Amino acid sequence: MCGIVAYIGDQEAYPILIKGLKRLEYRGYDSAGVALMDNGELQLYKCKGRVADLEAHINGADVRGTIGIGHTRWATHGEPNDVNAHPQSSGSGDLVMIHNGIIENYATLKEELINRGHTFVSDTDTEVLIQLIEDIRQHEEVDLFEAVRIALNEVVGAYAIVILSRKDPDIMIGAKKSSPLTIGVGNNNEYFMASDATPIIEYTKNVVYLEDGEIAMVDRTAGLMIRNIENQEKTPYIQELEMQLENLEKGGYEHFMLKEIFEQPRSILDCMRGRLSVEKGKVVLGGIKDYEQKMVNAKRIIIVACGTSWHAGLVGEYLFEDLARIPVEVEYASEFRYRNPIIDEDDIVLAISQSGETADTLAAIELAKSKGATIIGICNVVGSTIARTTHAGSYTHAGPEIGVASTKAFTAQVTVLALMAMAIGKRKGTIPESAFHLLLTELTSIPDKVESVLKRDAQIKYIADIYKDAPNALYLGRGYSFPVALEGALKLKEISYIHAEGYPAAEMKHGPIALIDEEMPVFVIATKGPSYEKVVSNIQEVKARKGKIIAVVTEGDIVVKDIADHVIEIPDTDDKLMPLLSVIPFQLISYHIAVMLKRNVDQPRNLAKSVTVE
Ligand code: F6R
Repeated sequence: MCGIVAYIGDQEAYPILIKGLKRLEYRGYDSAGVALMDNGELQLYKCKGRVADLEAHINGADVRGTIGIGHTRWATHGEPNDVNAHPQSSGSGDLVMIHNGIIENYATLKEELINRGHTFVSDTDTEVLIQLIEDIRQHEEVDLFEAVRIALNEVVGAYAIVILSRKDPDIMIGAKKSSPLTIGVGNNNEYFMASDATPIIEYTKNVVYLEDGEIAMVDRTAGLMIRNIENQEKTPYIQELEMQLENLEKGGYEHFMLKEIFEQPRSILDCMRGRLSVEKGKVVLGGIKDYEQKMVNAKRIIIVACGTSWHAGLVGEYLFEDLARIPVEVEYASEFRYRNPIIDEDDIVLAISQSGETADTLAAIELAKSKGATIIGICNVVGSTIARTTHAGSYTHAGPEIGVASTKAFTAQVTVLALMAMAIGKRKGTIPESAFHLLLTELTSIPDKVESVLKRDAQIKYIADIYKDAPNALYLGRGYSFPVALEGALKLKEISYIHAEGYPAAEMKHGPIALIDEEMPVFVIATKGPSYEKVVSNIQEVKARKGKIIAVVTEGDIVVKDIADHVIEIPDTDDKLMPLLSVIPFQLISYHIAVMLKRNVDQPRNLAKSVTVE
């Protein structure tokens, strides 16, 4: 969490920083700040609120400087207020720093610094680190780079930091451990540092992804130098970005979330592009080619993920068990990492993450790796930490997802999981040739079918209007639709703040049925498939208690239409691929309800897109 951006070059830094912070605001938006240096003078502006509040706060000031840093915060230590906003300054005011991450041993370090006479103004762990750096520089009489290096050797925790110094006005220092830091290499000794490439893409496509334990120093004349915290020099490895600038704009939509929902026909297609051939009856996932045999031989697959990605993982469990006959366990990464799990070299761990930066998923990967398991990643952000940490993997190619609520990433993750399970099942011989061919053909029809679900938007908006004031909602599904029920409930609660629960439809009678009365909207996936009749019975149970049923059904269904209060018809498809269609109405319902309730759809309260703290 937290977004950081920094610039050094010939241009005025302020507009670059503000634009960059707006792109990074999905990472946190409790407070924001910038520091710029002009002729050895540091100007610092920061305040509680969003980047727009910062702009209003700065309004009219003569902000200058061709070197600067900016931060948008998701609070960890200390409430969101002006003082705790970043940049944080050292005691003398000579140093300023922006930070994404958590310094876990900050309390011990702070106590030592207080004993040495330092005083603190904020509650942040960041202020402790910048004071520590200043303390080392003063007492050990070393230069700034060395002071940073020594300080980072004392730090336990996660950080991506950038530091400016009044005494070194032509130098910018960045460092990373567990939180991401991308360096943009522009023309004429112009450099950028940022939490991801979105603030950089406009100026250069050449980037260096800093590795854990590396410190980068940019000098206006000498350029970029990288050393690790053991002080060994590293050669910067410059890569070219694949990202397109237009994908970072709203493109005429009112919100990123709506744009991303409507992008799904294309993002699913992009995800499949070049990976399947119906004519040749083949699925090829280049990224995992060398590990396919290992997956075929796997005794077990463990899927680790969080949130929406975890829901996609549940669909993956059904797919791998159905198609490849491999037992699968789906784990919340945060639980897995702390419960001494039994893992060995024969296990395949599938890590699913849109951002590729989620701290818990990353820690789960490290744990599984240390026990010898093979780690396969399914990530959206190219070059992200998880993508680089896994042994192999497949990108989802959904394009940048900016709305905090995940939508197109989910459908792309499910598409990759379907492709993987099919590829492994075919190689293992657990899918009959004819079934493989049918499923492959069906998969290619999904983008058009998603398009036709999106055409129901007006009807879905109408339903949203009826239920927007409900204080609670229940989502029910069975089999492949159960993870979709969980995902529907998550979407509703995270952006509309309405309490919602997802349940396997049959579990309802073991407790949640007590909640049902005439006020309770119950969203049910009742598409044609193996458990259709059972779900119809569950719907009857809700209706018998006067609950309101909003059912997602297969086009042409007449049975549920008769019982339900509303039906949303979606095209028929193979049950295994149904989550790719049935999730769309739930994404749209949540979106419309949130807009009607005047919520901040793209940046819901308390959340951040990239959860880089545990
Ligand atoms: C929900 C949502 C979160 C993420 C979760 C994992 O809409 O976006 O639940 O799915 O934080 O994030 P990634 O996939 O980036 O690891």
